[in-house]
Amino acid sequence: MKVQVRWLLAVAGLAAPALLQAWPVEEALFPRLPFADQCDSIAAIPLRQHVNYNLDIQPIWSTRCANCHVDWGKFPSADLDLNPPNSWFFLYNEPSSQDNSLIRVVPNRPLQSLLFTKLNCEVNDVGVRMPRDRQPIPIAEQALVHDWILAGAPEVDDDTIFRARFETRG
Ligand code: HEC
Repeated sequence: MKVQVRWLLAVAGLAAPALLQAWPVEEALFPRLPFADQCDSIAAIPLRQHVNYNLDIQPIWSTRCANCHVDWGKFPSADLDLNPPNSWFFLYNEPSSQDNSLIRVVPNRPLQSLLFTKLNCEVNDVGVRMPRDRQPIPIAEQALVHDWILAGAPEVDDDTIFRARFETRG
């Protein structure tokens, strides 16, 4: 009996790493970092602990992304609909329509989120800086998008009371 149990454990021990490797979870949880260069520094903007998607983030889209992702003609650019009330669902954990190894918004990871690098950097993994053919959005708004993603990109309000590890920007 004892010997049989030992055999079972040995087989399970051998099989476990192979099974884990075959599991694609890790890839889905940690999408690749989008390539980005010539990014603006947001270090001077104080960190926002509470970001409300509907009050703080949606107005940025409605003001600055019009005609392309908001109030478009036939269809939204890059299949990215930023009109309320749909916009959050087109961003959160959604793959890029141009390269599905990139994710538009990776909760808690602004630098892995294509949305942020497209707003923050001149040179991007896919396409050009957003908003296309317009001035970059103000640094304070870039920081707000960053802090919203850092807080987990909540759909409505981030009710975090205090997160010590978010005290300063990393
Ligand atoms: C003048 C039209 C135009 C405006 C304004 C514009 N975009 Fe775009 N956007 C595009 C086009 C075209 C693409 C696809 C090509 C590219 O990525 O450069 C795109 C792609 C994107 C992507 C990548 C989507 C994907 O799945 O790959 C994101 C994210 C994005 N835009 C965000 C925004 C945001 C946020 C704003 C407003 C601050 C904005 N854009 C303003 C035209 C526009």
